[in-house]
Amino acid sequence: MSGAGEVKRVFVATDHGAVELKQDLVAWIRTRHGLEVVDFGVHGSDAVDYPDLAATLCQALLAGGPGDRGILLCGTGIGMSMAANRWSGIRAALCHDEFGARLSRQHNDANVLVLGGRVTGVAVARAMVDVWLREPFEGGRHQRRLDKLEHPGAVRPA
Ligand code: RB5
Repeated sequence: MSGAGEVKRVFVATDHGAVELKQDLVAWIRTRHGLEVVDFGVHGSDAVDYPDLAATLCQALLAGGPGDRGILLCGTGIGMSMAANRWSGIRAALCHDEFGARLSRQHNDANVLVLGGRVTGVAVARAMVDVWLREPFEGGRHQRRLDKLEHPGAVRPA
């Protein structure tokens, strides 16, 4: 479940808003990175509800091991990021550029990358996936902040 360490397996899911981008990234991760990819769909253009796909992926990720990560897609990425971050232990980062993707690993230990198929092109998405899969979490002061995310009731407002 943790994003720390080497990535071994990537769970991927999309709603109908990013099927083409999802298909491209599944192939990209398999060929470019040689990683196991579990593709939860969807595969067609029939409308589905993004919280359902987010739930499938988040449950699998939370039940998985330390080498597991998730990638969620929808039209904008907004709905998927909202849905995924409702799950305790999931740190989903909606990213639009390499800088955000890198920092989401270094500072936020994001275990789910969220992309929008209607706002992000294939080349930028591949580049984000590349940095996101290899960047380590820096820990230190960032771990303290992540701990606060998991226990919001214990956080004393500044
Ligand atoms: C589906 O039309 C669209 O709302 C969805 O893919 C996503 O963009 C929601 O945030």
